[in-house]
Amino acid sequence: MLIKTSTRFDGSDIAASDITPQPVFERRRQFVLSAGLGVAGLALTPRAFAANAPADEAKLAATPNPKFQVSDTQTSLKDITSYNNFYEFGTDKGDPVENAHTLQTRPWSVSVEGEIHNPKTYGIDEILKLAPLEERTYRLRCVEGWSMVIPWIGFSLSEIIKRAQPTANAKYVQFITLADPKQMPGLSSNILNWPYSEGLRMDEAMNPLTLVTVGLYGQVLPKQDGAPVRIIVPWKYGFKSAKSLVKIRFVEKQPPTSWNQYASSEYGFYSNVNPDVDHPRWSQATERRIGDGSVFSPKRKTLMFNGYGDQVASMYQGMDLRKFY
Ligand code: MTE
Repeated sequence: MLIKTSTRFDGSDIAASDITPQPVFERRRQFVLSAGLGVAGLALTPRAFAANAPADEAKLAATPNPKFQVSDTQTSLKDITSYNNFYEFGTDKGDPVENAHTLQTRPWSVSVEGEIHNPKTYGIDEILKLAPLEERTYRLRCVEGWSMVIPWIGFSLSEIIKRAQPTANAKYVQFITLADPKQMPGLSSNILNWPYSEGLRMDEAMNPLTLVTVGLYGQVLPKQDGAPVRIIVPWKYGFKSAKSLVKIRFVEKQPPTSWNQYASSEYGFYSNVNPDVDHPRWSQATERRIGDGSVFSPKRKTLMFNGYGDQVASMYQGMDLRKFY
């Protein structure tokens, strides 16, 4: 790491240069310096907290599922839709809300393919009707050290997997997302290997918590949150939750994933939320809940598996979670 600064990013104990990929940080710094702002100005840029409402506010009905709720206060719609990571639309938290209007969410299809007996391409309207839509409130913990509580709308990924009928060779599921430079200005930078790719082991993909997500807060998924369909894996760091999904591929070998390819020592395939295993450059023991008072409010203790241990810990029995981070 070349740059050290005493300014803390997002009020956390981590320097911006520590949690931001080096090329991204360098570019932001260049911008800030040329704008005569200084790094403290960057953290407070009003754009990152813009009150822009989501472009598409179409209502989406869903039945709350009492099995999948948390008692934590929900994060405001404004924060959920204006503080985002979606590098296809820029690397600042405020970029997706400003830039994602160019994303065309219809027509849209998701191809389900690979080691399955029943390959199929689903149109978005078929996905919306594939299984009853449920509202589930999940914690989302980002590897950068912040978290939110979001009332998502969707159904378990297992609904798609059952219909796909995986062969005996299907050991992993890969998620591939849209990469269209005409719609996504962020693709002009080579920070990540596009298309954004993520993956799960088969049992993780089948876990009822793993959600095919089509909405939040009673409306269709806003573009900056990964419209029209994304995956949410609440016991793993947020980057596992791939946005704007176009392919679900069943494979025999552990698939390559974008962040692991970017820095394999920092972003593992498993990426389970684990307060006992630090990121090589910062602690994962605590988190800042977005909307919790001010950036100076005390941080919360991060929970093992983000609080979902009862539902997921058994999948990792006997595994060394320091090795399989
Ligand atoms: N999916 C795509 N396609 N591109 C991305 O840059 N960022 C990931 C994940 N999914 C990302 C993505 C990261 S780092 C996080 S923390 C979450 O999306 C953020 O989701 P949110 O903006 O809805 O809170």
